Amino acid sequence: MGAGAVAAWAASPARAMLQAAGNLPVPAFIDALIAKMTVDEKAGQLTLLPAAWGGGVATALNPPTNGPSFEEQLADVEKGRLTGVFNGNGAEMARRMQTVAMTKSRLKIPLLFAADVIHGHRTIFPVPVGEAASFEPELAERTARMASYEGAAAGIDWTFAPMVDIARDQRWGRTMEGAGEDVLLGELIAVARVKGFQGKDLKANDAMLACFKHFAAYGAAEAGLDYNTVDVSERTLREVYLPPFKAALDAGALSGMASFNEISGVPSTANDWLMRKILREEWGFEGFVVSDYTGDMEMIDHGFAADAREATKLAFLAGVDMSMTSGFYRDHLPDLVAKGEVPMTVLDASVRRVLAMKAKLGLFDDPFRRIDVKREKARSRTKPAIALSREAGRKSIVMLKNDGDLLPLPKSGKRIAIIGPFAEGKHDINGPWVVYGDNAQAIDLASGVRAAVADKGAVSVALGSGVEAPLAGGIEAAVAAANAADVVILAIGEAENMSGEAQSRTEIVIPEPQMALAEAVAKTGKPIVAVLKNGRALALEGAVLNAGAILVTWFLGSEGGNATADVLFGDYSPAGRLPCSFPRSPGQQPYYYNHKPTGRPNPEGALQPYKAHYRGIPNSALFPFGHGLTYGKVAYSELSAPATLAWDGEITVSAKITNSGSRAIEEVVQLYIRDRVASVTRPVRELKAFRKLALAPGASETVTFKLSRAQLLFIGRENKPTVEPGLFDVWIAPSAEAEGVKAQFTLTA
Ligand code: NOJ
Repeated sequence: MGAGAVAAWAASPARAMLQAAGNLPVPAFIDALIAKMTVDEKAGQLTLLPAAWGGGVATALNPPTNGPSFEEQLADVEKGRLTGVFNGNGAEMARRMQTVAMTKSRLKIPLLFAADVIHGHRTIFPVPVGEAASFEPELAERTARMASYEGAAAGIDWTFAPMVDIARDQRWGRTMEGAGEDVLLGELIAVARVKGFQGKDLKANDAMLACFKHFAAYGAAEAGLDYNTVDVSERTLREVYLPPFKAALDAGALSGMASFNEISGVPSTANDWLMRKILREEWGFEGFVVSDYTGDMEMIDHGFAADAREATKLAFLAGVDMSMTSGFYRDHLPDLVAKGEVPMTVLDASVRRVLAMKAKLGLFDDPFRRIDVKREKARSRTKPAIALSREAGRKSIVMLKNDGDLLPLPKSGKRIAIIGPFAEGKHDINGPWVVYGDNAQAIDLASGVRAAVADKGAVSVALGSGVEAPLAGGIEAAVAAANAADVVILAIGEAENMSGEAQSRTEIVIPEPQMALAEAVAKTGKPIVAVLKNGRALALEGAVLNAGAILVTWFLGSEGGNATADVLFGDYSPAGRLPCSFPRSPGQQPYYYNHKPTGRPNPEGALQPYKAHYRGIPNSALFPFGHGLTYGKVAYSELSAPATLAWDGEITVSAKITNSGSRAIEEVVQLYIRDRVASVTRPVRELKAFRKLALAPGASETVTFKLSRAQLLFIGRENKPTVEPGLFDVWIAPSAEAEGVKAQFTLTA
């Protein structure tokens, strides 16, 4: 940016807005402190580095960039060259670093400790996409609260969560870290997790600052390839990808992370439209934005910045307040300010935001408030946390099919063979994105099953296959085990390193060696319960799809085996619903239930020529968003909806839900709409509300939902929220592609 551009920026509304008094109360001492800081110290406050003394698998998650030693990092703290570190080694590390900051640094500004506490700290909860399957935002709030209770006790002030990216392409491995494909569910879970992490008072020693990420549209990567180009219309951005961020912000999240990807040619890390126009001007965001890892540095490889200095200038002026990992801000901001290329006022505004957040976290009052080695131990893996992990685990399980009521299994009188690479062993239970949890402490499937049944001797185990490679003699042993059993639990799917960051897949199927195992076991004719391990939706086929019962168990965390056994043996009736559609074939990706109709939809029934479908398969889901069975027999009837909704009015839409089965269940009742004709084409269905309903055996209940104009908004021709009078379909249904009960109403002008 030349001098002219700087002048233009200085006169811009964005800058005026930055200087306007924000709503965030910033204590007066912060400005006094900024007045005392050198430019180097200011750049230091905007520099976050990976902890040299790392925690758990942190090093694998964030490969070292020839970083400093711990001693060198302490020396940096002394010189005021760091705002804090992330993914460090807990309270003892934090204590040593904070002590240097508070006793040896010139200005004694407390450090901020961050970490990827994504689905639990030491007690691990289900991966977020699994937890979203609970359709219970209140549960997501409770697990986030517990994660903060444990994590904050280890000295962590700030978590890099929640990830609120909408995932419409299941090849993208980071599906596991979000709430799936739907906007409403994404918003509600985002709100819940922010509230859970931050608690009622950010100063509390069991609260962590939340960070919505990755801003924005990281999940819209072309071909589901992580980090890939995003080219998306402003309308879709505003209607699909941005709302969960806005919801997180409205729920009080005071930090955000820029995404690695570009959008329509501009990397988010340098996207002033996103960072200033949307985030600050339109939404009034008062917190700070951090780059994702080396996001600023990566703009060189994007071909957007020539070198480190230019990358720094672009990222910083676009509105990314803090640089993670690269050290670029610390290295280049002082010179950029000296040469007048970065105005001091902009530098001060970012420093002010960061220091304001340290104040909000109570760090200026007591820099050690979250740092207490005894408390760290005392709060780690407590009984209530483990119980919550089991509850969250069983609520995350989705039963896709249950032919002939194969499930639940009896606890005695049947010989059970657990077959597959995930049958037994302390691996792949917690799931991806776990920095501090340990699979060695988690409950595997065989342990959960053995704990549930009356006769442990009736349970046999055969691994049968590796995850992606055959096991010598594995299939023979597995077939023998199946033949000697009355029922097979087939524990197959993805290992935890097959989803998560950088783990995109082209073929989202069960790996071939496991399919060979499944086919061989199926030939025994024994009833099969497929228990899937997965971080994304999978295209199921062959013996797995034909299994009598299928449970989606994601990665359930610390209590995985016990939670699965709760469902297998009927101590809990499955209530989870798919937050992402399972396609018929990987080639359908990106597939999402709320797609547009096209001008040539295939009508109900047989495939027709020149209609929108692939050769030989309908373009619908194998198991759609919202699908999930219970141990009850559920029927939807008696839809009641008025014929008109007045412009400023509200209508009540209701349906009767009956459980004629013999078990108590919870049913997730969903309300969808379709706007029949609009000035912008509308999806075939959109989720507008849902309710989890407990139904005793034989019970019926009338579920009511309120609908008003606000729920019928869409992003119109001018990229602004719009609503138009006209005809709407409304369904109350058990999934996005089930008919349930349906009516129509007209919104009148
Ligand atoms: C990169 C990931 O994209 C981000 O989500 C994470 O918080 C950082 N690394 C730090 O580990």
